[in-house]
Amino acid sequence: PLTPTADVMSSARRGRRAVGAFNVITLEHAEAVVTGAEAAGCPVICQISENAVRFHDSRLAPIARATAALAETAAVPVALHLDHVTDEALLRRAADCGFGSVMFDASALPHAENVAATRAAARWAQAQGLWVEAELGEIGGKDGVHAPSARTDPDQARDFVSVTGVDALAVAVGSSHAMTTRTSRLDHGLITRLAEAVPVPLVLHGATGVPDVELRQAVAAGMVKVNIGTALNAAFTGAVRDTLAAAPTVVDPRPALTAARRAMADAVTSALRTLSGGGYG
Ligand code: G3H
Ligand code: ZN
Repeated sequence: PLTPTADVMSSARRGRRAVGAFNVITLEHAEAVVTGAEAAGCPVICQISENAVRFHDSRLAPIARATAALAETAAVPVALHLDHVTDEALLRRAADCGFGSVMFDASALPHAENVAATRAAARWAQAQGLWVEAELGEIGGKDGVHAPSARTDPDQARDFVSVTGVDALAVAVGSSHAMTTRTSRLDHGLITRLAEAVPVPLVLHGATGVPDVELRQAVAAGMVKVNIGTALNAAFTGAVRDTLAAAPTVVDPRPALTAARRAMADAVTSALRTLSGGGYG
């Protein structure tokens, strides 16, 4: 069923597990996330990012409502999250489209402006019943520039959460967005210190670059939401490429999309097994 993000997150935190949050771009991505989560028997978060909305000509409702409809009939809890929102106008459309949560991302702004913008966004969104994530420390790679050396300071993180009132915090601990190799080393000591300093769940972005063994350690140290996008696109696009290459005159897109959806669902299932530590049996 479609489930509030807050509920999925609090039960994961109680169970010392992490919830996989997977980027949805097309309907087939959403189907793959739900099917993959059902196969793993795990709750899951479908997240639609601001740049995916831009891909849909800035229309939020069609892809959001389709994903919410898939969630409603899913055999596992499925939450719907609006990711990396920088545009306040988009934020204001979230509540009407089935989202249980938003990530408001002002991390590229100077610190004082990040605090002020996040505080205002969180206040508005929470009044609509939305669970709010924000980012401190600017995790790199969103602009194609990897900055795995960025780090979030635990004392600054504690103050940021208390002033802004956010429900979860994305932190810079060594990962970077859009990595196509799994070479990222995380700063596990820092994750532990952040988890002690901050009263809300921590979120790991750019988890594609992180090997499974590091992911498990990160969950043990206190990561509760783990965002994966690029690895799923690699599986999806790779299957499209292989299917079309094997049948160069094919016209119907469905064989390629069927293979893509299956490859992505398998990637979701295996990521969820890593993150849940087998905790859902
Ligand atoms: O918010 C989305 C994630 O941080 C995805 O990162 O594409 O590097 O896995 P990734
Ligand atoms: Zn991210």
